[in-house]
Amino acid sequence: MSDTDTAQLTDKEIQKEVERRRTFAIISHPDAGKTTLTEKLLLYGGAIHEAGSIRQRKASRYAASDWMAIEKDRGISVTSSVMRFEQDGTKFNLLDTPGHKDFSEDTLRTLVAADTALMVIDVAKGVEEQTEKLYEVCKMRNIPIVTFVNKCDRPGMEPLEIMSNIENKLGLRPIPATWPLGYGKDFQGIYDLIDQQLLLYTKAEHGTQKAEIEVYDDLEEGLAQTHISSADKDQFREEIMLVEDEFAEMSKEEYDQGNCTPVFYGSALNNFGVDVFLRNFKNLAHPPQPYVNEEGKVRKINDDFSGFVFKLQANMNPDHRDCAAFVRITSGKFRRGIQVYNQGTGKKVKMSTPHTLMGDERNILDEAYPGDVVSLFNPGDFRIGTTLYHQKPVRFNVIPLFTPEHFMKASTKDPFKRKQLREGLKQLSEEGVVHVFEVPDGVGNELLLGTVGALQFDVVKHRMDTEYGVELRMEPTPYHAARWLPDDQKVIDQLDASYSTHITRDMEEHPLVLFDSAYALNQAKEKVGEENLFKFKQD
Ligand code: G4P
Repeated sequence: MSDTDTAQLTDKEIQKEVERRRTFAIISHPDAGKTTLTEKLLLYGGAIHEAGSIRQRKASRYAASDWMAIEKDRGISVTSSVMRFEQDGTKFNLLDTPGHKDFSEDTLRTLVAADTALMVIDVAKGVEEQTEKLYEVCKMRNIPIVTFVNKCDRPGMEPLEIMSNIENKLGLRPIPATWPLGYGKDFQGIYDLIDQQLLLYTKAEHGTQKAEIEVYDDLEEGLAQTHISSADKDQFREEIMLVEDEFAEMSKEEYDQGNCTPVFYGSALNNFGVDVFLRNFKNLAHPPQPYVNEEGKVRKINDDFSGFVFKLQANMNPDHRDCAAFVRITSGKFRRGIQVYNQGTGKKVKMSTPHTLMGDERNILDEAYPGDVVSLFNPGDFRIGTTLYHQKPVRFNVIPLFTPEHFMKASTKDPFKRKQLREGLKQLSEEGVVHVFEVPDGVGNELLLGTVGALQFDVVKHRMDTEYGVELRMEPTPYHAARWLPDDQKVIDQLDASYSTHITRDMEEHPLVLFDSAYALNQAKEKVGEENLFKFKQD
């Protein structure tokens, strides 16, 4: 076979593999049911045969300072940054987005490696704070969002109310894809507005196995089998009439751009609505999309291998001081053992130890395609955002730097450790663990740390101690909010002259403004315009 034939064959193979992949991440607020739904997707996707094992290992019961132990004990929910399952030939890659107290920039960055977001909402609570933050990233990337309204077996908002809640909180137009039959304890079925079928469920004990389903093409025939009151049936019929055409009329373009979201109802705990969700999610979720390089040009999906690091995780194995780098493949075929270039350093690295992680088990991966995530041993010079490529050079600049929301002053008790303090924190900031700034009007041996999630300070403290031998002293600060600034002296001077605002710079000399109050932030918006106050660091 000639080289051209081989190339064509590889092109076809890549295209085929790309078409059957769906790489997605869940956006939700703690307790909405992300872990439960993840597990049920694995159950319905055939990756596990009985639900119940993952949730038992949840970390919410641990103190924040035990984070290393959490990483170890939590198994699937944290250390396996990607869960893979396959259904009828479609390969799903579910990227884990840690929530709870360990919500951090990692969580936000993971969304950059996903092609679709699955938004999980608690029917009683509606859209909550962390979901809003994660949604900002989806909006920035214009990725499609599919919604699962969970816990419909519990009293909560009515379906129409939930839809208004999504629209009002996020400015995202909800499009019903299914509709729940019965509220709270009367919840017993789902009307599938896509296939126009009524699905009636019988719960399996503890929800560890799939629920039994009866399917009715004729709505009335199905309704006759239920025990809800005739008044509730009337209301259900009315609502169905109101919403039945919406999904069919949904604009593909609006959906593709993330301007509207199909909404599925269900209960992850009881496995109600999970099957119909997964069946349709397969068609709704985007296959891996090509990424744009730093010059704004598309790296074609069938070009040779390229990818970028979106997450680094140290000490995955406590017996060895190792660090894994999670790489999202953006083009080409990855084969174990190929030589790739680290775009940042120009060095060639042999990719000899890739693996995927599922629970504690590491599977060596022989080949992978765009949309897949490979976990590689970090030779030491991989950073968050590092681009890797096989032959044709490329640099992606896709990982945004978020605005920190929590601040602490850091210093060391030991005056002989000041150099290590700076060096250690600089390295951790390069790794994307923490933002490091000069303290506005501070003394020289203090630095200002900024994070997206508060638990991250414990991570920094622990790592500085164990890896750099520096015992950090942390002190709270009065800062309420921050925004990145353009490198425009006029804007900087204007803000510098304001009351309750403080200008500082990060380790790369990038300017940032800190505010003492929400009031000060609003004042600044009026003064210099919102367009000069960035929520993401610009290059
Ligand atoms: P998270 O990952 O988003 O934080 O949520 P998680 O799945 O851990 O669920 C949070 C709580 O909500 C759990 O209860 C879980 O059982 C419950 N839950 C999840 N889905 C449903 C649902 O469809 N219906 C109802 N009624 N509850 C649901 P918990 O009491 O915190 O934990 P556990 O005692 O059940 O382990």
